[in-house]
Amino acid sequence: MDWKTRRGRGVSKWAGEPPFGLGWDVAGVVADAGYGVTTFAPGDRVFGMPWFPRVAGAYAEFVTAPSRQFAHIPDGLSFEEAAALPLASLTAWQSLVDTARVEDGTTVLVHGASGGVGHLAVQVAKARGARVIATGRAANHDFLCSLGVDDCVDREAVPIQDAAEGVDALLDFVGRDETRAELDAIRDGGLLVAIASGASDEAHAEADRRAIRVAELLVEPDGRALGEIAALVDGGRLKVSLERTFPLEEAAQAHQLLESGGHRGKLVLTVK
Ligand SMILES: NC(=O)c1ccc[n+]([C@@H]2O[C@H](COP(=O)([O-])OP(=O)(O)OC[C@H]3O[C@@H](n4cnc5c(N)ncnc54)[C@H](OP(=O)(O)O)[C@@H]3O)[C@@H](O)[C@H]2O)c1
Repeated sequence: MDWKTRRGRGVSKWAGEPPFGLGWDVAGVVADAGYGVTTFAPGDRVFGMPWFPRVAGAYAEFVTAPSRQFAHIPDGLSFEEAAALPLASLTAWQSLVDTARVEDGTTVLVHGASGGVGHLAVQVAKARGARVIATGRAANHDFLCSLGVDDCVDREAVPIQDAAEGVDALLDFVGRDETRAELDAIRDGGLLVAIASGASDEAHAEADRRAIRVAELLVEPDGRALGEIAALVDGGRLKVSLERTFPLEEAAQAHQLLESGGHRGKLVLTVK
């Protein structure tokens, strides 16, 4: 999200013309709480993704935000791990829990499962009892199996429409204008959550014909859901894959690595 927005895509329409402060994910210690705040006190360890999609300026020493956009960091989770979670895990949560209402017995196809959002979505879906089919490069299949995926599909060998048949919900974390083809993997009356880039007009028309619901989701700050995510982490059911940390001064290198696609999991900027 950060590099796409820097390049004028992502949520840049809410940021206006550059220069603007990038970043939403934060983890740190409460420096001060405003009048009327009951849920946090100075010294508490908190994490969140304040203000999204409006500018939060999270590449900085301090941020301010409404208290209910944060949650407490579970004991045992480092600031770096906590900072890697909010935007990606809330996207996964709002797709699977709030939108798809995944539960025991639901079959979900996660497209782009080894990415920052995808690897968390797989774990949230498993924690809620779903059967999970995942697409990813073959080199990432061991990683996906370690997360509990039931079936892995090599996305370089198998087109998305053949990755599965009759799934209840497909979550698209790739966004390569494949939404019309994706419908062929979903049962009539099922759900397509088009997170990465929305759905094409063709996909909408075909989905209407087959009573498939198409949700074009934009993640929102939600401290309560983040608390549920923290509980999953605390219970050992959700683990974030943290590939590398960079000091804030090296943010440009971190963006270059993300844009090259040569990463797996999350990159985190540390602020002294
Ligand atoms: N709507 C929202 O509110 C929202 C929120 C967060 C993110 N997003 C969007 O969701 C998408 C995923 O975000 P992310 O942070 O998880 O990105 P990411 O970490 O870069 O992961 C994307 C994954 O897609 C797979 N992939 C890459 N190129 C592919 C290709 N050509 N064909 C098929 N799969 C490919 C990769 O795994 P393999 O190489 O193993 O296949 C990669 O790990 C991005 O487009 C992001 O902008 C939207």
